[in-house]
Amino acid sequence: MTSNIQDFSRPKGGRYVGTAQRRIDGRLKVTGGAKYAGEFPAPGLTYGYVISAAITHGRIIRIDSSAAEAIPGVIKVFTYQNRPKIASDDKKYQDQTAPPGSPMRPLGDDQIAYSGQPIGLVVAETFELARHAATLVEIDYERRPHKTDLEAERGSSYEPKEKRSGISPPPPPRGDAEGAYDKAPVRFENEYRVAVEHHNPMEPHATTVVWGEDGKLTVYDKTQGVQNSQNYVTGIFGLKKDDVRVISPFVGGAFGSGLRPQYQLFLAVMAAMELKRSVRVVLTRDQMFTFTHRPDTIQTLALGASKDGKLQAIKHDAVAGTSTFEDYQEVVVNWSGLIYDCPNAKLTYELAKLNTYTPGDMRAPGATLGVYALEAAMDELAYATGVDPLELRLKNYAEKDENEGKPFSSKELRACYAQGAERFGWSKRNPEPRSMREGRELIGWGMATGAWEAQMMETSARAVLKTDGTLEVATATADIGTGTYTIMAQLAADALGVPIESVTVKIGDSTLPKSPVEGGSWAAASAGTAVQAACHTVRETLFNHARKMEGSPLANFGIDRVVFENGRIAVEGDPSRFVTLTDALAASGEAEISAEETTAPDPKTKEKYSGYTHSAVFAEVRIDEDLGVIRVTRIVDAVAAGRILNPKTARSQILGGVVFGVGMALHEESLMDKEIGRFMNHNIAEYHIPANADIREIDVIFVDEHDDKASPIGVKGLGEIGIVGTAAAIANAVFHATGRRIRHLPITIDKVM
Ligand code: MOS
Repeated sequence: MTSNIQDFSRPKGGRYVGTAQRRIDGRLKVTGGAKYAGEFPAPGLTYGYVISAAITHGRIIRIDSSAAEAIPGVIKVFTYQNRPKIASDDKKYQDQTAPPGSPMRPLGDDQIAYSGQPIGLVVAETFELARHAATLVEIDYERRPHKTDLEAERGSSYEPKEKRSGISPPPPPRGDAEGAYDKAPVRFENEYRVAVEHHNPMEPHATTVVWGEDGKLTVYDKTQGVQNSQNYVTGIFGLKKDDVRVISPFVGGAFGSGLRPQYQLFLAVMAAMELKRSVRVVLTRDQMFTFTHRPDTIQTLALGASKDGKLQAIKHDAVAGTSTFEDYQEVVVNWSGLIYDCPNAKLTYELAKLNTYTPGDMRAPGATLGVYALEAAMDELAYATGVDPLELRLKNYAEKDENEGKPFSSKELRACYAQGAERFGWSKRNPEPRSMREGRELIGWGMATGAWEAQMMETSARAVLKTDGTLEVATATADIGTGTYTIMAQLAADALGVPIESVTVKIGDSTLPKSPVEGGSWAAASAGTAVQAACHTVRETLFNHARKMEGSPLANFGIDRVVFENGRIAVEGDPSRFVTLTDALAASGEAEISAEETTAPDPKTKEKYSGYTHSAVFAEVRIDEDLGVIRVTRIVDAVAAGRILNPKTARSQILGGVVFGVGMALHEESLMDKEIGRFMNHNIAEYHIPANADIREIDVIFVDEHDDKASPIGVKGLGEIGIVGTAAAIANAVFHATGRRIRHLPITIDKVM
């Protein structure tokens, strides 16, 4: 992998930012030293096992837990009948990321709204005992007809009344999409489907609540936001912030599934408070299929264009499934008004209620779906007009955000196209379907564009420099495997010119300075900016002490004339004149210098510019003509994401996203049995995700992109852009190889044959 690392706005003398650094938490992770939520020990720990509803819609008419409770070692069976008196008001169950509606109140009443809904918790002295006892709880249900078929419910779709905070509704129509479409010399309309997908992080959802004698709780929760979990718990259980500390130093993958507090958190806290004992609740893999998922979405996309491929009309309509109790929303169709230049666009997004749990954010929520449909349709347009797919994109290149009528903060998508095409060898492509083959294998080359929002959120961070020369930086964000620990250490080390080894990073603890959930690809820009700001304050304090020291060689210089490097503050260009950080600290007379800063995006810049990351994805597939087996043999993903803090962890983010895209294109599919109303393949044996053997060559390019508006440190974020566009590039390659247009992902063998 090669990448071009830009060094603009690197702190003077900086050694780490922009360079490939190993994860500072890597050793802990590979040696088992990193502990996850379900692994923390507690004296007298008890174990909870969740009972999941066996019907899809209806109510509980009888629960008999006497046989279960008669077993020695079983402590209590919680159901709606004996649920302790806790808040029942919907508002208390809200969290930072909740969509509008009435959040689920676990064990709240006898009603069942979806299969797998938690309806009981068995607490016992061991996990095995709790699991066994759960099988002895007798439950009678009254069944009601359920709705789990989006196709059947699309006729009753509606525009959500209350918009989800942070999610832009579709922009108002521009021009006259209907009229322009009707007049367009080239036009077509198609429907695109993507299977429901579940996140399936390696670490299942888990919570260990450690009960303190003083009634205070220490909660180890699998979450992307410790303070979000803390607020959820204090709100529902009427506790004070001081009573609940939520800790989550490591997260074994989440992909969005850890944004909302999940039901095991509620149940573990409830049981611990009631029993006055420590409780652990870990979900099984099949229970991992009973909460959040990527929503079932039916998309219709119509493109109208001139004969040479200039877009004249885009109509993009999406109907997405949600639960019966909340209106989950994500940005699906807006991309079609954003990515290409087109005077007439009409975009709609509606929901339909289903008896499932509320869908949730899953890596690049909305964009994965919407951009897939748009980019598959663009490939169809390329074939309808005989214009090369890459040339077609350049012909319709958007110079500004036409949804909002604003310029982009930066947009190096042209460079992505050029560098990606060059690396891939796109110019050697014969556009004719089925024209490239090797032996029994048909070869297909496809490409697509990707886009994702560049966001920054208000975040606080603290930096503490100690007399022993160590520097600690802290904020309550998470590292869900993305490399947050490492980039924070890099920024801190460079800000004060100390070796990265002397930096300690603290995150994933609700007592730390305030941070939003880690999500939306905003953590590096948000936590990074706050950490740098806190370090700069320490830097200034330190410099002021250094200047005032007797006979200080820095006395006549301002802070802009010195560099912080090698543990020293030195005159720029004259390294022999310096004060060491430890001497400056000693001169302060304090044991440490500490600063806390809060940083937020500049509202004026936000109003004036649109910030997005972009990518160009090129894919090669090889398909066995006799067997229909598809192999993705090569992917080149050229990404423009502003400043790259750490090309090693950045590349890993893109690799992970691309692999996720391969899964979306070829493997991942949660299959709903519509008669029963349940996802039936609720295990990793039957829900396929790419394995090592499915992945061949993935080449990541980071193109140079200077962005001084998206965030103060030039970062635009990388967690999600890798998945966007990947499935479309693969689907387009499958068309090129076979001449078959498959508009329903995943593209399994039966669809190819
Ligand atoms: Mo991401 S789906 O915001 O974790």
